[in-house]
Formats: sequence, C-alpha cells, structure tokens
Amino acid sequence: MKLDSLRDVLQEQLEDMHSAETQLVEALPKMAQAASTNELREAIEHHLEETRGHVRRVEEALGELGVSTPTEECKGMRGLIAEGEEVLAMQGDPMAKDAAIIAAAQRVEHYEIAAYGTARQLADDLDMSGIRDLIDQTLDEESNADKLLTKIATGGMFKAGVNVKAT
Ligand SMILES: [Fe+2]
Repeated sequence: MKLDSLRDVLQEQLEDMHSAETQLVEALPKMAQAASTNELREAIEHHLEETRGHVRRVEEALGELGVSTPTEECKGMRGLIAEGEEVLAMQGDPMAKDAAIIAAAQRVEHYEIAAYGTARQLADDLDMSGIRDLIDQTLDEESNADKLLTKIATGGMFKAGVNVKAT
C-alpha cells in the first residue's frame, strides 16, 4: 500500500496487527497444549480468549478507517511463532520447556505492545479517539498477560525442577 499520510501509517499498522492477532489465535492452542504446568496452560488459554477479542477490536478499528478486508501479512509474528514452534518440538525437562514457552510468549507480547503503542500514538495524533480507546483496551490485556507470564516465571515454580537437573 501507499503511505501518503499518518492515517495510512495507522491503517498499515492495524492491518499488520490484524494478521498478527489472527496468526496468534491459531498458534496459542498449541502452546497451551505443550505447557506442563496448569498455571501456564490456563494463562495461555485465557490469553487465547483475549486474543480473539483483539482480532475483533482491530477489525472494529479498521472498520472506522473504512477497511473491511485487511491484506497485510505480519512477517514478524510469523517469525516469532516459528521460533515458538521450535520450542514446542524440543524434548527435555517439562519445567525447562515451560520456561522456554514463557520466553517465546513474552517475545510475542512485547512485540504486540510495541506495535499497539505506536498505533495508539498515531490514533491519538489523528484525533481518532474511538480507535485509540480500542487499542488501549487491548494494550491493557497484552500488558497484563506479560505481567502474568513474568509472575509465573519468577514465582519459584521452575527453580526446584530446573536447578535440580542442572546441578
Ligand atoms: Fe493481542
């Protein structure tokens, strides 16, 4: 697409996120299934539900821009998911694998937070408060998902299992 204005940039960013979120809806069930601790599986399943909502919000935001069929493909998310799938295919200690799944999931969350942060600012600059508010709701959920992953990773549940194997 042609970028002639900030509005075009916002559209391009949102189309990219539509692709990213749609890819995630496909990928998260596999990650949830591979998690060995209930806490991690439930966190991923909960975020899967939220991610379905993120797709809807991006569609609503694109609708406000008059876009009904986004065509961008998010190659960044495709790469992040491919890396996550490498982890899923690995053998080894279940706790170590959960830690690697968290690492992959946090890369995804940070990527989304970066993208939505930019899109939010663009919407704000363009006085498109409807789109900005939609993005804010999603940003809150991405940020909470990221914090929950950190909590799971630092809650001590891995230390016992992983370190015992390592020493
Ligand atoms: Fe999302």
